[in-house]
Amino acid sequence: MLHHDFIAILDFGAQYNQLIARRVRESNIYCEILPYDTSLSELKKKNTKGVIFTGGPNSVFEKDAPQPDPKLLTSGIPILGICYGMQLLAHALKGHVGGTTREYGRTELLIEKKEALFAGLNDSEICWMSHGDSVLSLPEGFETLAKTATGATAAIGNHEKKIYGVQFHPEVTHTEHGKEIIKNFLYAVCQAKPTWTTQSFIEEAVENIRRQVGQKRILCALSGGVDSTTVAALVHKAVGDQLTCMFIDQGFMRKNEAKKINKLFSEDFKMNLVHVNASESFFEKLKGVVDPEEKRKRIGNEFIRTFEREAKKLGEIPFLAQGTLYPDVIESAVPGPKVTTAHTIKTHHNVGGLPKDLKFTLVEPLRKLFKDEVRALGKDLGVPENIVSRQPFPGPGLAIRVIGEVTPERVRILQEVDDIIVGEVKKAGLYKQLWQSFGVLLPIRTVGVMGDKRTYLNTVAIRAVTSTDGMTADWARLPYDLLEIMSSRIIREVPEVNRVAYDVSSKPPATIEWE
Ligand code: XMP
Repeated sequence: MLHHDFIAILDFGAQYNQLIARRVRESNIYCEILPYDTSLSELKKKNTKGVIFTGGPNSVFEKDAPQPDPKLLTSGIPILGICYGMQLLAHALKGHVGGTTREYGRTELLIEKKEALFAGLNDSEICWMSHGDSVLSLPEGFETLAKTATGATAAIGNHEKKIYGVQFHPEVTHTEHGKEIIKNFLYAVCQAKPTWTTQSFIEEAVENIRRQVGQKRILCALSGGVDSTTVAALVHKAVGDQLTCMFIDQGFMRKNEAKKINKLFSEDFKMNLVHVNASESFFEKLKGVVDPEEKRKRIGNEFIRTFEREAKKLGEIPFLAQGTLYPDVIESAVPGPKVTTAHTIKTHHNVGGLPKDLKFTLVEPLRKLFKDEVRALGKDLGVPENIVSRQPFPGPGLAIRVIGEVTPERVRILQEVDDIIVGEVKKAGLYKQLWQSFGVLLPIRTVGVMGDKRTYLNTVAIRAVTSTDGMTADWARLPYDLLEIMSSRIIREVPEVNRVAYDVSSKPPATIEWE
C-alpha cells in the first residue's frame, strides 16, 4: 500500500470510528485505524499525508485522558480533530476547553469561514453534535470557522499549521455535507491523491498473492457468502488452477444452495471445486440435541474435523485463503470498548469457521477491506449480484433456526418456508433494506382446520429485522399485505405447516436468531 497516500485515523474510542474510515475510503484514499498513541516516526514510515483524531468517551480534563504523541502536533502533518479530537487539540495547544454548553443530535451549523474545510458548503448546514465539553477560547493562531446557533464554537482551524477541529461528527449521514467536509480535508488540506480504487486494489492484491503463493497450491473453504466467494475469485484471478475450493455441505444450507454453489464455482467460474457432502455425519452428531450452544459446539467440531480429513486427501497444500475483513482485524488490534452482546451471549459465534492453529500459511487478501469494499470488489471480479448483496447467514445455518432437534425432515420443511419468505421479500423490493429476513421452525404443533378437517401441525415464525451491524436490531415493519402473501403461501405450499407468526421483538432484549 506504500505508493498510496495514507491517512491515519487515531482511535480515541468513539463508536463512529469505522464510519470515519469508510468515509475516507469512499473518497478513494487509503486509511487505517491506529491506536491513539501511535508515534510520529511510525506515521512517517507509512507515508502519512494527514491524521484524523476521532472522538472518544473521555474528557480532556481526566487524569488519564488518552493523548497523541506530542511531536505530532508540531510535525507539519495536517490534522483534523473530531469532537474529543478537537478538544484535545485546543487543550494541547493552550486554548481553553470548558463544560458550559452541551449539545446533542441535529444542530444548525453557521459557517463563518469557507476556505479549506468548508469550501463549497452553504452558510448554514445541518450537523450532528454529541458533546459535553466545548472550546471556549482558541489556541494562538487559530480562528473560529463555524459556530452553532447558541454561539458555541463548532469548528476551528489554523491554515498555516493545517490543523483543524470540528465539534460535530462529519462522518455520520445526519451531517448533511459531512462527506464534503472530509473530502475537503483530504484533498485540499492534506493534498492526498485519490488512488485507492477497486481496480488498483485488484492489481496489487493479485501481485501480492502471486508473490506469496509462488508455484504452490492454495485451498479455500467456501461458505456461499460474499467474503469467501470474493476471496476465491480474487485468488483464482491471481493463481488460477493452483487454487482448490472446498465446499462442505453440512445439510443445513438454504434450499438449492448447495446446487447453486456447485454450478457457480465449477461451471461459471471453472474453478477446481471439491464438494463434500457431509450431511449424514452432521445430522448424526445432532441426533437428540436441542440445546443451542450444544448444537453450535457439535457443528463447529464436526466442521473442523471434516475439513481436516478432506484437506488431507488433496495432497500437499501449504496455503489457505480466508475472507478475514478489516473490522475483525481492528477489533483485535485496537484496544477500546468493543464488547458486543453478540459475542458474549452466543459463545460459539464463529461456528463454521476454522481454528487459528491449522497447519496452513494463511492468505488473507481482504484484511484491509470493509464489507462494502468487498461487495464492490466482488462485483468487479464477476461475483453474481445475488451473492454480492446477500444478507448475512450464520455459520451453523438452518440448524439454529430449527428450534429443537435438527432432523433432515425438519430442515427440509424450513428450507421450503424460508424460500417462500426470502422470495417474497425480494419480490417486494425489500431484500436490500433488511439486515436479515428468514423463517424459524418452532418445536410446537397447533390445531387448525383445513377443508373441514382438523389439523395438528407445525408453527413457523417469520423474522425480519433492520440493523446496521447486527449488534442491535429492530423488527421490520413489513407491510401487512406482504405478511399476508407469505403466510398464505406457506400454509398452502408447505403441507406440514398450519400456522405462521411474525416476530415483533427487537435486539436487545431479544437476539436476531432464535438460538
Ligand atoms: P444474534 O442472533 O446474536 O445474531 O443477534 C447477530 C448476527 O450474527 C449472526 N449469527 C451467527 N453467525 N455463527 C455465525 O457465523 C453463529 O453461530 C451465529 N449466530 C448468529 C446472525 O445471523 C446475525 O446476523
